[in-house]
Amino acid sequence: MKVDGTQYRSLWWDDDADSLAIIDQRWLPHAFRIEHVRTMKGFVDAITEMRVRGAPLIGATSAYGVALAMRIDPSDASLAQAGATLLETRPTAVNLRWALERCRATLAPLPEGARFEAALELAHRIADEDVAMNRAIGAHGLPLIREIHERTGAPVNILTHCNAGWIATVDLGTATSPIYQAHDAGIPVHVWVDETRPRNQGALTAWELAAHGVPHTYVVDNAGGLLMQRGRVDMVITGTDRTTRGGDVCNKVGTYLKALAAYDSGVPFYVALPSPTIDWTLTDGSEIVIEEREAREVSHVTGRGADGATEVAVSPPGSAVGNWAFDVTPARLVSGLVTERGVCAASETGLSGLFPELAGRAA
Ligand code: MRU
Repeated sequence: MKVDGTQYRSLWWDDDADSLAIIDQRWLPHAFRIEHVRTMKGFVDAITEMRVRGAPLIGATSAYGVALAMRIDPSDASLAQAGATLLETRPTAVNLRWALERCRATLAPLPEGARFEAALELAHRIADEDVAMNRAIGAHGLPLIREIHERTGAPVNILTHCNAGWIATVDLGTATSPIYQAHDAGIPVHVWVDETRPRNQGALTAWELAAHGVPHTYVVDNAGGLLMQRGRVDMVITGTDRTTRGGDVCNKVGTYLKALAAYDSGVPFYVALPSPTIDWTLTDGSEIVIEEREAREVSHVTGRGADGATEVAVSPPGSAVGNWAFDVTPARLVSGLVTERGVCAASETGLSGLFPELAGRAA
């Protein structure tokens, strides 16, 4: 997608600098900063500190991390160590495990001398495939938006939570891809953007939508229920960090509450995801490890002040603080899963119908 008229992906290999270029998302939407990652510690920090974030982007970044490890030391021990180190960075998004397992399976049989080149090529392939999957998700999600517009004759109001946009992926986004495609096709859309405390990923979504000229309104997380009750939301589309083969959807904390409100108000609740986000090993979402992040993300807020970034305390000193980063929406609250192969029911039958070869491999 474009930033100030220049086409970007959210990460790219910089041949000149011989390192991975990323957009440091901690500074968005206030500053657009590119940084280069050139050490294993740099990769670990980039993911744990959420300089890069979003399930598909974490997966792609980790593949480049393995490539870096293979350049430094292409031995079996180094391959295993890189995989283990990167896997520990964040526990919930399954794309990380998916990408690292794919790297291991591809590289382990190769002679050491061939591993770096093969790892880099694989990382490029994972990045390119992500973009292609997101484009297909957009194509399959677009008719859902068009149908509402044709039925109502009015702009389609879509609520989204967190950032499942182009910077959470390599490009185009998952939940945003149908929105961008609908907007580009001339269908009038308006997006309610949940702020998404504590990291305020909604600000990233708003920044993206503004850059692409998509009408939107930034709202506090708790506004969604009111908006749905009052008929001001036609559909909800979110992304996901891990969806079980049974269709339970793990996504940014607060997603479940939106799904409950959508169910109560009869608003369709869709989840957009590429197949690497499906965890075929789990049926029940209660088994997913929910990341708990540091208390300071909740007890303090950071924003742009007159002199640059400013952090202020919001909770009383001494109060206990909890910071669960994700929650699980049960499959029964999900109207449909929008994947690169089409829209299906949030169920084992639905997912295995679209991806029989993947479902079969897990069995
Ligand atoms: O903690 P984050 O910002 O990495 O969480 C991201 C989300 O929850 C997204 O909604 C999800 O990864 C889908 S991204 C296409």
